[in-house]
Amino acid sequence: MISQKPVRFFIRTFGCQMNESDSERISGMLLRAGGVGVDRPEDADLVIVNTCAVREKSEEKLFSYLGRLAGIKRNRAVRIAVVGCVAQLRGWEILEKRAAVDYVFGPDNAAALEALVQRDVTLRFVSTSWSEEWHETSPELIRRDSPVSGYVTAMEGCDNFCAYCVVPYTRGREKYRPLASILDEVRDLGRKGYLEIQLLGQNVNSYRDPYSGRPFTDLLREVASIEGPEWIRFLTSHPKNFRPEIAEAMAGIRKVCREIHLPLQSGSSAVLKKMKRGYTKEDYLDIVSRLHSLMPGISLSTDIIVGFPGETDQDFEETIEVLRTVRFSSLFSFRYSPRPMTAASKLEDAVPKELKQSRLMEVQRLQKAIQLEDHSRLVGKTMKVLGLGRGRKTPDLYSGRNEGNQVVNFRSDEDPTGRFVEVRITGFGPYSLLGEKTA
Ligand code: 5AD
Ligand code: SF4
Repeated sequence: MISQKPVRFFIRTFGCQMNESDSERISGMLLRAGGVGVDRPEDADLVIVNTCAVREKSEEKLFSYLGRLAGIKRNRAVRIAVVGCVAQLRGWEILEKRAAVDYVFGPDNAAALEALVQRDVTLRFVSTSWSEEWHETSPELIRRDSPVSGYVTAMEGCDNFCAYCVVPYTRGREKYRPLASILDEVRDLGRKGYLEIQLLGQNVNSYRDPYSGRPFTDLLREVASIEGPEWIRFLTSHPKNFRPEIAEAMAGIRKVCREIHLPLQSGSSAVLKKMKRGYTKEDYLDIVSRLHSLMPGISLSTDIIVGFPGETDQDFEETIEVLRTVRFSSLFSFRYSPRPMTAASKLEDAVPKELKQSRLMEVQRLQKAIQLEDHSRLVGKTMKVLGLGRGRKTPDLYSGRNEGNQVVNFRSDEDPTGRFVEVRITGFGPYSLLGEKTA
């Protein structure tokens, strides 16, 4: 049956940049199929929840959101689709647990969502099959949230099997997108005036072109040769695959931002070994010194897991020491949580919750102090900032990012969105800088 009125859809995205990027693709696809986007789930006929499975807490957030949607569904007809990583991981279990959910689609099956805005699908179903193939979406079909900074997926999946990580089971093995189609998308963004490109992949620096085998460094060079975008970022990199030539390529390409997210996870080589990370504390520190010597002033950000099974006080102290040595410009820290199917889930989750919590607090306290101190040194300096829009928490200010990927909120007489501007830093908080546009 063809619906009379266009289907109104709403997408709620949890998780990482890859999920945000997938949601932009889903949104574009639904618009092309005749759907209309709305801003609130209360106004939608179809709600799509794009989910993250990386930690237990991410799943809890999803299930509490589904509770809220079930409340809406009691008052009006709305169909609910759960997509992404939890969908892949839990499949039918979601339909069994949550009567309000109608459809479940894994990350490789999102294309089938199109049917939901074209006809009434009354059957509840699950679609979580893997595909070995790269699914192409033509660049015109992506409904991007930002007119300034564009996500471009370079690869998907992960072959590393870190002991704590569920991603290989939700996103599957590594799949690389053909270089030519990545470059087509970047050219399209260049024509549309995008100034920043963020190359995405769970393990982006292991990229190689599936046809020619050309490596990640060639991808960086080719993207940099395209006219338009001036800043290139990429994430996430794995220290194990961060070969010296990647740092050298970064240093040699001016458009590549002097910034990198390089998850450390732990500063103890013993814990890193149990995590199956494939590098030691010393290897990591070597990469950091190479980056600093090739690109003085480079900003480094990282992820830390506290309370991995068997983490001793001494192990944790080593993590703290590395944080003091490296002085990351930003850091995401998490309490270890066992995930289904992973190697670590078979180990005893031995660090008590309270200890995990106190370690987490210690990491966050230290990091906050480091950022406050480093930010205070920037007061009075002028820096190049890419205007991204109005501040979310500070609507009277504009918001942007500097080359080091730090958030800069600033005053400006004219709208700087989509332009590079010079901003003089006048103040700071632990997580952002404050300033005034000077040019
Ligand atoms: N428990 C806690 N944190 C985790 N991460 C991944 N898996 C887990 C887990 N089981 C963290 C890692 C990763 C980030 C995206 O999430 O730090 O880099
Ligand atoms: Fe979460 Fe990982 Fe899936 Fe991203 S890829 S949504 S971080 S589980």
